[in-house]
Amino acid sequence: MHSFGYRLNGLLTFAVTILALMCVIASLSDNLNIPSPSAEIQIMNINWFQKQPKGSDEVSLRMNISADLQSLFTWNTKQVFIFVAAEYETRKNSLNQVSLWDAIIPAKERAKFWIRSSNKYRFVDHGKNLRGKEFNLTLHWHVMPKTGKMFADKIVMSGYSLPEEYI
Ligand SMILES: *[C@@H]1O[C@H](CO)[C@@H](O)[C@H](O)[C@H]1NC(C)=O
Ligand SMILES: *[C@@H]1O[C@H](CO)[C@@H](O)[C@H](O)[C@H]1NC(C)=O
Repeated sequence: MHSFGYRLNGLLTFAVTILALMCVIASLSDNLNIPSPSAEIQIMNINWFQKQPKGSDEVSLRMNISADLQSLFTWNTKQVFIFVAAEYETRKNSLNQVSLWDAIIPAKERAKFWIRSSNKYRFVDHGKNLRGKEFNLTLHWHVMPKTGKMFADKIVMSGYSLPEEYI
């Protein structure tokens, strides 16, 4: 009995060691993959642009978000969380970031897409700073691996601007 338990213990230790080693190799080989994602966002339409009763500017816009994020996927990728943020500068803050839209990409086959969508989340400024405002649209992603560390990156697209007047 004693020697059986001893051997079982040894076997388990061995198995756990192999497993740990495989995880290390998995995340290492994952890091060797150099992704080359691409994205493009067109603003199709400004649905409306107003000053709210409380005085903050709010805009609703329709976008065509297209991206090819297939290279973010390896066999070690569980899923990829993406969000599109409007980023702009005001006198008070050098970076204002408003999340407009998000999605979870569950598989590589779904990572090349285009979608037409209005902003899912409200594009509201803390003040009256949006008229004529130039802004960036940034596609951020968080890659969630099966094992190892999560990593995040982004593509910044610039050259967008809001109308000078409320509509
Ligand atoms: C959205 O953008 C993609 C890529 O630029 C394009 O292929 C597609 O036709 C566009 N869709 C619309 C409705 O404009
Ligand atoms: C917008 O993008 C440009 C070019 O990448 C960058 O120089 C600028 O700092 C960005 N603006 C903000 C507010 O992040």
